Amino acid sequence: MSETLTFALTKGRILEETLPLLKAAGIEPLEDISKSRKLVFETDQPGVRLLILRGSDVPTYVQFGAADMGISGKDTLMENGADGLYEPLDLNIARCRLMTAGIKGVPRKSGRLRVATKYVNIAKQYYATQGRQTDMIKLYGAMELAPIMHLADEIVDIVDTGNTLRANGLEARELIADISSRLIVNKASMKMKHARIQGVIDAIAEAVANPA
Ligand code: PRP
Repeated sequence: MSETLTFALTKGRILEETLPLLKAAGIEPLEDISKSRKLVFETDQPGVRLLILRGSDVPTYVQFGAADMGISGKDTLMENGADGLYEPLDLNIARCRLMTAGIKGVPRKSGRLRVATKYVNIAKQYYATQGRQTDMIKLYGAMELAPIMHLADEIVDIVDTGNTLRANGLEARELIADISSRLIVNKASMKMKHARIQGVIDAIAEAVANPA
């Protein structure tokens, strides 16, 4: 009987960049994931399944062993912590920067800063290392609105092209981290299914190094 292998993925742009990497490892879904509302997909390899999750839930599934492997943004891994996980490979996809930002041309005020972000843990730690005192306001999206509406002095958010900041009169200030998607593996799975998982890691590493 062949070993089962469960992969946790997310929909959207990252999925389009992920499927060719899985294909390089010989794993192809049996149906078009983007056209289905299903959350579990069989593949052409018996016992190999793909789960489609919210991005922020991928590390949780892998940490608890509900999935053996997954693909997750470094931002999510930094925010959630990575206990119980290995992060063997930078996939070099979905590259962007995690930055602080504020209203363009307005100097950062002195004293305590109000910071709106969905990355509360990362932001708290970052400002602490700068010796800045902060009050965090947790938001789930549209962070760019917070300084404009005087909800916060600064935001911490993902910047790719910078268009969203510009369109809302904000400017990026400091780089917190360069972000990209990472392959993650449950630590127990790595031991128990070592040959199988190492084979997948090697094939994906090869595809990342030599894109088609
Ligand atoms: C991200 C981020 C910014 C935007 C940055 O949001 O939160 O709003 O992309 O990209 P840009 O620099 O190219 O404008 P995303 O669209 O991923 O949606 P989200 O708010 O659900 O994370």
